[in-house]
Amino acid sequence: MGIQKYVFYSIHNCDQHPEVPLMEIKHCTEKFLQDSSLNYVIIRLCGFMQGLIGQYAVPILEEKSVWGTDAPTRIAYMDTQDIARLTFIAMRNEKIDNKLLTFAGPRAWTTQEVITLCERLAGQDANVTTVPVSVLKFTRQLTRFFQWTNDVADRLAFSEVLSSDTVFSTPMTETYTLLGVDQKDIVTLEKYLQDYFTNILKKLKDLKAQSKQTDIFL
Ligand SMILES: NC(=O)c1ccc[n+]([C@@H]2O[C@H](COP(=O)([O-])OP(=O)(O)OC[C@H]3O[C@@H](n4cnc5c(N)ncnc54)[C@H](OP(=O)(O)O)[C@@H]3O)[C@@H](O)[C@H]2O)c1
Repeated sequence: MGIQKYVFYSIHNCDQHPEVPLMEIKHCTEKFLQDSSLNYVIIRLCGFMQGLIGQYAVPILEEKSVWGTDAPTRIAYMDTQDIARLTFIAMRNEKIDNKLLTFAGPRAWTTQEVITLCERLAGQDANVTTVPVSVLKFTRQLTRFFQWTNDVADRLAFSEVLSSDTVFSTPMTETYTLLGVDQKDIVTLEKYLQDYFTNILKKLKDLKAQSKQTDIFL
């Protein structure tokens, strides 16, 4: 097909969790690419900042429940715009042919820290439903018993990895040097969420003002 460079997005630490089907698929694909004659770059990712909007920011604004765990897992979220920018640099750089890189954001966050940050920026408290890790484990074991709930068990196995005492992060200094990127140009979660809440709260305020102008009083 004339592919000049095959870019594969994988998941950080996928080689350490063969019990999770998604992690296993990612690791097998990495090995397949490494054994092939293709020119490739494998990029392992930790987590997307964009995912936090639907998971925490919107439910908090809508005063709906958000799900939390009591786990101390930390994830170094990254803005997908930064991931795209760094990927393009990696694609164009011959020094990065046939390499495996890991991209991590500037700081690793626990779920509770993300919720606290959203609460501060939204100016309102979150309605948190905490699921203990033990409940996740028990539900996964239970759903393993039946063939029709195996898909649920696979998803829970992934949640369990994310709820274990793991840190999804890696030092980025070497990668930044390799790509010629300045750490200062990478968006922090504080900045990303601050921009989101500033925009959305302004839109909500404008919308409220507009709806007041068209209110009909009888
Ligand atoms: N989200 C995270 O925090 C995270 C963390 C680590 C790694 N990753 C990896 O990063 C990648 C993107 O993640 P994501 O969360 O954005 O995934 P996603 O929401 O599932 O999006 C996957 C995208 O791939 C497209 N796609 C799927 N199968 C395709 C096919 N056969 N041909 C062409 N396009 C196809 C989908 O198109 P349609 O919309 O048309 O279906 C969709 O746009 C994935 O490889 C994921 O494993 C994500």
